[in-house]
Order: sequence, then structure tokens, then C-alpha cells
Amino acid sequence: MTKVVITQSIYDQAPQLLAEAGIPYFYHQGDTWSPAELKEQIREATVVVCLLADKMTAEVMDAAPHLKLIANVAVGYDNIDIPAATERGILVTNTPDVLTETTADLAFALILAVARRIPEADAYMRAGKYTRFALFPDMIGTDVYGKTLGIVGLGRIGTAVARRAALGFNMKVLYTADSPKPDVERELGVIHVPFPDLLPESDFISIHVPLSPRTRHLFTMNEFRQMRGNACIINTARGPIIKEADLVEALQKGLIGGAALDVFEEEPQMHPGLADMKDRLVVTPHVGSATIQTRQKMATLAVQNVIAFLTGQPPLTPVNPQVL
Ligand code: DGY
Repeated sequence: MTKVVITQSIYDQAPQLLAEAGIPYFYHQGDTWSPAELKEQIREATVVVCLLADKMTAEVMDAAPHLKLIANVAVGYDNIDIPAATERGILVTNTPDVLTETTADLAFALILAVARRIPEADAYMRAGKYTRFALFPDMIGTDVYGKTLGIVGLGRIGTAVARRAALGFNMKVLYTADSPKPDVERELGVIHVPFPDLLPESDFISIHVPLSPRTRHLFTMNEFRQMRGNACIINTARGPIIKEADLVEALQKGLIGGAALDVFEEEPQMHPGLADMKDRLVVTPHVGSATIQTRQKMATLAVQNVIAFLTGQPPLTPVNPQVL
């Protein structure tokens, strides 16, 4: 008998779609399960609907011998051991496209926030420190309009950020990618450059690559040293792409101008050095796709994948279609 386990609160109307399709499910709405609890809870499952905090390792999969589908409510799937799933004939699906523009909005909000020092200005106001207008206030910022943005990874979200930068802010946009994207170059005038050239030529660097062995610690002291002294780095992709201890050191030594982070190396923790930093650092708790509309779409798409799979239809957004 099919058993669908939804590991965490998603969006209540999404499981409702399962009910309407006559598919029974177990919907856990409490705290994230520990790895041991996860193993125990999915022991009889055919389908698991999960979030990034659920680490779907080979060991966890082995605890669920009937498992056939893992539907991740996220576009990224570094929480899932894809080769292990494929080896076991388990299909994995994700939620691309529906969150592209929302995540690009957050990336741009972070660019603006770190450049114009919005958190510092907000704290200043709340502390009652605004007693007279000054031409050069404590939290003087730097321009975004017309500056150079370096995009690391010109996929869906990277392209959406490039569009905002090129068309809305008249920015020169450089990008790195495994292969050039002539269509986007024609549309937006973005320029493909090797990674080592992007570092010293950008005023802002925004990361949009998935986490993989190749991208883990892509940014270390070595890269920060090559960036402009006033450049800011923005990460809405995955925390471990930046070596956080090195970022703290680079900020403390003034090697770069600032950072804005929505993701962290040891999420949900952040490096204590970051918490201590008062200026030129903006931090948000992994809210790239966190708008009501987009989170509803993500949950719905994940469940639609489940329904398609269980009713013999092709899944909408498979990650490892070769298992089918
Ligand atoms: C994703 O979809 O990968 C985000 O990081 C979570 O919304």
C-alpha cells in the first residue's frame, strides 16, 4: 500500500490535493526530525515529500526499503544523495522555475541593502541617533546603478538577476558559466569571463551556482584577496560555497567592502564572527524563495510530482529521470 510521508509543514492545500486524488498521506507538522527519527518515520514509505533540512542520505534511504520517490520542496537538492537514490531506483523531483523571480528579487534586495547600508540605517533610526542631517552620515553607502555586477553561474536565477541589473540598473554584467550563453548575451549584453577575471572586475559578486564538490569553498581568502577592496559579495545559493571563516577574516581586514548572505555554511548556524559584525554585513535566514505565492507554488509542484508519479504519469520536474 502506498504510503506518502510529508516530513514538515508545507502549505496545507498541497496535501489536500493528495486527498482529492484519493492518495493517503501522513503529514508531520512538528519540528524537523532528527536523522534517527526520519529513518523511523519513513520506514514504510513509498514517497517522501521533504525539505532541505531533511538529509536524505544513502543510510536514510536504506531504512526505507519501499521508497520510490523523493519529492523535494526546493530547487536545490544537495540534501539528497542523488547517486545513491539513482542506484536504488528512487526518483527524485525538485521545484525549479516557480521560485526563479522571487529568489532573484531577494538577491537584488541584498545587493541594494548592503550597498546602501539599510540595516545600519534602520538600527541608527531605532536607536534615536538621527539628531541632525549630515552630508556624509555614518552609514554612507555606495552606488549600485551603473556599477559592475559579476554573476557566478548564469542559470535561471542568475539570468533573472542579470536582467534586473542590466535593464533596471544599467549595470555592466559579467558572468561565469561552464559554457557561454549567447542568447542571454544578445538579450542583456552580459559578458562571459573566466572566473579569475570576474573577481577583480566586479563591484558586486552574486553567487548562483548549485552546491557541488566543485563549488564547495569556491570563495576563500584567495578569492577575497583578488576582489576589489570595496566590492560586496552576495550569496543566495548555498552557504558552503563561501568558506565562512575566510569571509569573516576578509571583512575584518577590510579586504572587501561587504557581504550579504541568505545561506550559511553550517545552516542554521552562522559563524560567530559574522554575528559580531555590525557593519557592511546583511544576513537573512534562507528566505530567497519565501513569499507566500512562491512557497505555495513550490509545495503544490512537489505534490503534483507525487500525484503524477503515483498515477503513472511522467513526473513534471525529475532530477534523475534515468531511473524511470
Ligand atoms: C531552494 O529551493 O533550493 C531554496 O534554497 C529553498 O527555497
